[in-house]
Amino acid sequence: MKTIVANFKMNPTSEKEAVSLLENYQKNYENFKNVNLIIAPPFVYLDKAKNLNFSLAAQNCFYLNEGPYTGEISPLMLKNLGVQYVIVGHSERRQMGETDEIINKKIQSILNNELTPILCIGETKEEKLKGKKEEVLKNQLEKDLKLENNLSPVNKSIFIAYEPVWAIGTGDFCDPEEANLTHQFIKEFIHYQFFNFDVKILYGGSVDSKNIKNFLNQLNIDGALVGGASIKKEEIAKILEIANSY
Ligand code: 13P
Repeated sequence: MKTIVANFKMNPTSEKEAVSLLENYQKNYENFKNVNLIIAPPFVYLDKAKNLNFSLAAQNCFYLNEGPYTGEISPLMLKNLGVQYVIVGHSERRQMGETDEIINKKIQSILNNELTPILCIGETKEEKLKGKKEEVLKNQLEKDLKLENNLSPVNKSIFIAYEPVWAIGTGDFCDPEEANLTHQFIKEFIHYQFFNFDVKILYGGSVDSKNIKNFLNQLNIDGALVGGASIKKEEIAKILEIANSY
């Protein structure tokens, strides 16, 4: 079964539109149950989605559970709301100053709260052109997943989303075969470091109904993290139908 994560990002702008979008997912999902569907709406709409039949992800969280941290949302709050996954380290947040050190704290906190992180990693165009892709990914994985001794990796499950920065929102998606090789590199690295982690690797970056099949056909691509296409109703139905056939 393939996983589809719908990252709404900072969309839509009204509750009415959000509910309509969520109901559309619900309706389509009835027909396409052979998909592990995870929806990541903005925080303010999570409550509207909690009684629907797919899983929920938050797009971010803080690394502490409670206290005087104005404007932050804790993993424990998310867990208590029924959220199961948290996207961490998205390049749009890294570009706003989120460091690997902060991402690592968030990952530890998410795992400690028995939620599943969806860790985003990826290289910029410049890094790719300089032949540094694997070095960048290895560096991000090492720093972001440096787990403290008191956190046993036994029975931990984690999603990694390989999202080349240059492919996000540009229409310039990665060649699926190249993505497959990159996923293999990530998988091998994780298994070497954390042999008892259950890891699934998603591809993200300009995925739509026209190209998703080429990604899902690849052995090491367990699913997709979809941004722009995830808030277009006509795309949602097609994407779910294709993912359902695996
Ligand atoms: P797009 O699908 O809009 O390129 O966004 C990908 C992404 O960033 C998902 O997290």
